[in-house]
Amino acid sequence: MFKRLRRQPSTPAEEAKKAVIDVRGITKTYLMGDIEVQALRGVDLQIYAGEFVSIMGPSGSGKSTLMNILGALDQPSSGEYYLDGVNVSRLSESELARVRNKKIGFVFQSFNLLKRTSALRQVELPLMYAGVSGRQKKAKAALESVGLGARMDHLPSELSGGQQQRVAIARALVNEPAMILADEPTGNLDSRSGTEVMQIFQRLNREQGITVVFVTHDPWIARHTNRVIMLRDGNIIADQAVKNPLVAGESERPSLADEMEEILQDAYYGGKEEEYN
Ligand SMILES: Nc1ncnc2c1ncn2[C@@H]1O[C@H](COP(=O)(O)OP(=O)(O)OP(=O)(O)O)[C@@H](O)[C@H]1O
Ligand SMILES: [Mg+2]
Repeated sequence: MFKRLRRQPSTPAEEAKKAVIDVRGITKTYLMGDIEVQALRGVDLQIYAGEFVSIMGPSGSGKSTLMNILGALDQPSSGEYYLDGVNVSRLSESELARVRNKKIGFVFQSFNLLKRTSALRQVELPLMYAGVSGRQKKAKAALESVGLGARMDHLPSELSGGQQQRVAIARALVNEPAMILADEPTGNLDSRSGTEVMQIFQRLNREQGITVVFVTHDPWIARHTNRVIMLRDGNIIADQAVKNPLVAGESERPSLADEMEEILQDAYYGGKEEEYN
């Protein structure tokens, strides 16, 4: 059994920063016939503007449930969620849709692109929903920023997996969201395409200050972020800063055994004795 890490008290400097995500005691219970499934059991989490965070944890631990709530795609059963200071738990469906479209860019494991639509059109769509003008120019710029300037007219079937994911990232970016949420964005990609996606996320985070939160099962990918949050059985069991995050594409992937050992040491045993319960 791992010992549970107690949350560090926030420092005044942290308090002064702006929490983009401020989650207080959220739970999520799904009802399956007569059986209640407790997917989240009281999660407290603050994520500040400009952070680059990965969420890890075993299958079924509540990662996607949490991401869907953070993305205002779903509501918690109890608890409060403040997104940029706005209590999302109180918003109507149409207000939620507006918040999603304006503030959040989503990237999914399975890309979620329209089959018969060119890359350029896919990226224009969120701009259409938002009623923005100059759509083509903005969509082109977003595709160029992910290195797909030469693939704008391609359909998803005419693109590699990594390229499809980059179209999805361009689509998430085009409305200039404050935050990108991604549920296993590298899960379906080979390691080279995964690295390309990480390079894009790191660049967006460092150069444009976009807050990035994503789920990964891959400890090596998690080491490229600045903070790792571990979920288990619907609880946050560890929340740890990454010492010396890796720069995507600049180091070799170590053996699986080494990287597991390192991340577990950091996340579970990294703190001082008194930080454990
Ligand atoms: N719509 C639903 N109805 C009922 N139970 C659900 C629903 N969605 C998720 N669950 C249950 O809630 C728990 C958390 O699921 P969740 O999808 O958040 O896990 P996860 O950490 O994302 O797992 P994975 O790594 O496999 O994607 C699981 O026990 C799951 O079976
Ligand atoms: Mg999931």
